Amino acid sequence: MTDSLAYAHDDAGAPPSRFPDYRSTVLRSPSLPLVRIPQTLTEVTGPAGCWDRLMGSALADLTTQHEGAPLGQRIIVTGHVLDEARRPVPHTVIEIWQANAAGRYIHGKDQWDAPLDPHFTGAGRVVTDGEGRYRFVTIRPGAYPWGNHRNAWRPAHIHLSLLGPAYATRLVTQLYFPDDPLIEIDPIANAVPMPYRDRLVCRFDIGITEPNWALGYRFDIVLKGRDATPLEEEA
Ligand SMILES: [Fe+2]
Repeated sequence: MTDSLAYAHDDAGAPPSRFPDYRSTVLRSPSLPLVRIPQTLTEVTGPAGCWDRLMGSALADLTTQHEGAPLGQRIIVTGHVLDEARRPVPHTVIEIWQANAAGRYIHGKDQWDAPLDPHFTGAGRVVTDGEGRYRFVTIRPGAYPWGNHRNAWRPAHIHLSLLGPAYATRLVTQLYFPDDPLIEIDPIANAVPMPYRDRLVCRFDIGITEPNWALGYRFDIVLKGRDATPLEEEA
């Protein structure tokens, strides 16, 4: 069994469920106070150490899922999943999904005027190793427009889901890139108060960068406590 307390969701940096500048939260957020329902052991525990066998092999390289290479800047994203005591969280599933280099998702509702890339699906998953470490190879996603307000553009981002020990403990967050001017005017990023918002921005790391191949970024995810990475309410 895995320690489910690492996945409790009560940190100050978590964005509010209602944030009017992020328009869709107004309709979907609860209008009544929440009632806390204690989770039972069977809801928050599950098989430990064998998620990779249950979910299929890792999809750690999003640039080799098709015959050709996708367009865009190849990047490596790596880091640790840590609990509030900065202890590594081993053997936990991380799923990612993202737009392609032009900012387009393979999704029926994404019909804006940017090209799909036949060599890029934009989805991957890995399991942290025994020291809580994960690593993906992908391409840097592009910014894309959305209908929140006039001239609204999402900063480049990668969505991450941490499954935890059971489906009931799944948590979702987003990774942003340093020096992106869209972050400070993005209502979704701004729903996360400072200084917590900065924890959603990965760091360029020349030590992770591989010569003649890919830029490297570090993104550590802290699941609870003072240094927690802000995690979204699941839509
Ligand atoms: Fe997105």
